[in-house]
Amino acid sequence: MNLQEVDVLITAEEIKAKVQELGRQISAEYRGRNLLIVGILKGAFVFMADLIREIDIPLEIDFMDVSSYGASTVSSGEVRIIKDLDYSIKDKNILIVEDIIDTGLTVKYITSILYKREPASIKICCMLDKPSRRKADIKPDFYGYTIEDRFIVGYGLDYAEKYREYPAICELKASVYNKQEEGNE
Ligand code: IMP
Ligand code: MG
Repeated sequence: MNLQEVDVLITAEEIKAKVQELGRQISAEYRGRNLLIVGILKGAFVFMADLIREIDIPLEIDFMDVSSYGASTVSSGEVRIIKDLDYSIKDKNILIVEDIIDTGLTVKYITSILYKREPASIKICCMLDKPSRRKADIKPDFYGYTIEDRFIVGYGLDYAEKYREYPAICELKASVYNKQEEGNE
């Protein structure tokens, strides 16, 4: 980790303990029922890989990848499916796993598509929740941490596709994105 570019907010050790706790909650919730964990690419893959190993009931996994329409960095809520699920989800208990819920528009869209496929249930699990920025009426059923409106990288989250491999949850220093934005002009 380059500590000139980021401030550590949550260490790898703290993350591990939190993910263990989430794994216990999810195992208790779904014991005796089927469980299909749906990870939203790319950001969720690190969290999901850790989370499934803390769940002690049988489960299946799949992934979806979506992208916002247009080049705007402001989420419009209009989302295009780039990779869909591989199989039918009829009568399955779906747990959507996200890295972070910000406006909530992405998860809202994904849930509305998946509901049409007649699953038994849909719940949402995210590592980070930024409720102050919410535009859609979405609340995670399981979450790691609530955070303020800061730009987060690491533990799967990126800035311009970088920093996903950092093991801690970090805040990107303003000097980094200010510099990059100047460079792009
Ligand atoms: P939403 O539709 O606004 O909830 O978008 C959520 C998506 O935006 C997440 O899956 C992330 O990919 C991205 N995102 C939101 N906040 C951050 C952040 O602080 N750092 C990195 N990515 C973020
Ligand atoms: Mg994402």
